Amino acid sequence: MEAGNKETFLSMRVVGSHGLIFGQLYVVLFFFPFAITNDKTETRPWEISNLEAIISFPGGESLQAFILVTVLVEKAAAPGIKALVLGVEAILQQSQDTLLQALQQLRLSIQDIKRALAQMHDYVDPDIFYRVIRIFLSGWKDNPAMPEGLLYEGVATEPLNYSGGSAAQSSVLQAFDEFLGIRHCKESVGFLHRMRDYMPPSHKAFLEDLHSAPSLRNYVLTSGAECCLMAYNQCVEALTELRSYHINMVARYIISAAVKARSRMLNHLSPHALEDRGTGGTEVLSFLKSVREKTMEAILHPAA
Ligand code: HEM
Repeated sequence: MEAGNKETFLSMRVVGSHGLIFGQLYVVLFFFPFAITNDKTETRPWEISNLEAIISFPGGESLQAFILVTVLVEKAAAPGIKALVLGVEAILQQSQDTLLQALQQLRLSIQDIKRALAQMHDYVDPDIFYRVIRIFLSGWKDNPAMPEGLLYEGVATEPLNYSGGSAAQSSVLQAFDEFLGIRHCKESVGFLHRMRDYMPPSHKAFLEDLHSAPSLRNYVLTSGAECCLMAYNQCVEALTELRSYHINMVARYIISAAVKARSRMLNHLSPHALEDRGTGGTEVLSFLKSVREKTMEAILHPAA
């Protein structure tokens, strides 16, 4: 399929039930469209070689791997999400031991996510990501190439504007931020909260529950327990490292790839207007660096 057929292709991806809005959603692209490739699935580990994406659009093996690495990242996050629930229970019960256990489990999960993400470099070609995959993932909100949005024939009479499929629509890192009490700047919060509208409603509700749960930071500071403070800071450090790693990946897959594409005169496949934008529509590096800065600033210092 030619890149020019993007609108036709994407209009097939409309989802209209279960409270999800119409658009090209992370949850549709990365939660459902994979299968385990052989009958011995029960005994085989969840590795790229045992998995296969069951949807297909341009990008060949790089596209397959892009989907599967993202699935593996979500899988690595599962123990981290369980740790948040354990952590909130620990605070409610004032149980330091359980909280320590939860924080350790969360740190390990964040480190596993980073390892899973690293597989992107092994399997996904930056040139193909930049020229092909990214174009198909991009949306029609904050996208200068489609300023008026997209007309959903038979659904609305006016064009609608929706963001593309971005991992910013995953609830994982937003859940970690809520639990750890990391507060982002106004502009970032605006984007991140908007991404919640693209999540399954239960994920969005989970984030809101975490936000209104008793504050972990207050508990750690008022308990005066140095072991809890250290364990909390280790989680914040691991999350900062994960975000730094992700920024480097973005530099390789978007920034350097754009320079390369320009020098090879391949711009006709990749609209200028999208060069410095993510599929969610952000101006990539300033947003991601601000999110990392605010993560780093959450480090707690022992009371004097
Ligand atoms: C080639 C791989 C990737 C590239 C080029 C990339 C690029 C980007 C970009 C440009 C943004 C800014 C928001 C936007 O406009 O979309 C973003 C945000 C984000 N991405 Fe990725 N991404 C990649 C893979 C992933 C994966 C596999 C995950 C994990 C599920 C992930 C997690 C996030 C998160 C959570 C955000 C929101 C910012 C934050 O909380 O730090 N990304 N990504």
